[in-house]
Amino acid sequence: MVELGVNIDHVATLRQARRTYEPDPVRVAIVCENGGADSITVHLREDRRHIQDRDLRLLRETVAVRLNLEMACEDEMIRIARSVRPDQVTLVPEKRQEVTTEGGLDVAGRIDVVRRCVEQLLEVGIDVSLFVDPESAQIDASAATGAGAIELHTGAYAAANHRERPGKFAALELAGARAIASGLALHAGHGLNYHNVLPVARLDGMHELNIGHAIVSRAIYTGMEQAVREMKRLITS
Ligand code: PXP
Repeated sequence: MVELGVNIDHVATLRQARRTYEPDPVRVAIVCENGGADSITVHLREDRRHIQDRDLRLLRETVAVRLNLEMACEDEMIRIARSVRPDQVTLVPEKRQEVTTEGGLDVAGRIDVVRRCVEQLLEVGIDVSLFVDPESAQIDASAATGAGAIELHTGAYAAANHRERPGKFAALELAGARAIASGLALHAGHGLNYHNVLPVARLDGMHELNIGHAIVSRAIYTGMEQAVREMKRLITS
């Protein structure tokens, strides 16, 4: 069955808008679990614009499902991950000025650096997933790093208009099949919402979807537990 990772960064973004103590992502993570989340995902960014070190530590102590930490392939982050020990790290590229993660990790272009990060995480028992664009070269390079999974960047598919979308979806299908054939677990995320998620959830071998913006947005209307429950029902239908 496809698993749902709920990305709760936006909860921390709202809190940081006032530098106060609410809403608390730690409390929201528990509500997400009640709604059926299979994992909780947070991105600890170098500039700490949303999730804080305190959040990560407390989530590690409180989350009962899997904890997935998105982070850059940097020494500081590797140190933090090795100390906090999330169940999984998803390595992502990170630029200071970007609004959100813009492209996939260039594993093919930086394979030695990525392989070194992967090794340091695997060494302490953390599963590793690499967030990559749906391109053959990136999938093949990912398999060569020793990582156990890739997360396909679905941003281009999600942003495509109805004419472009079949082509973008075909790229996901091809890349997904290549990942599975290489023995990698298949994850996907970015820009997925209640309208575009189903074809991605039904890709052969899909194991995990990481979804944030759409769920937190819907939660404004319906409450978080209900928003998570609706997405879980949809991706497992
Ligand atoms: N996966 C990765 C690697 C991401 O960086 C993000 C955004 O933080 C997501 C999934 C979730 O994207 P969205 O918020 O658009 O659902």
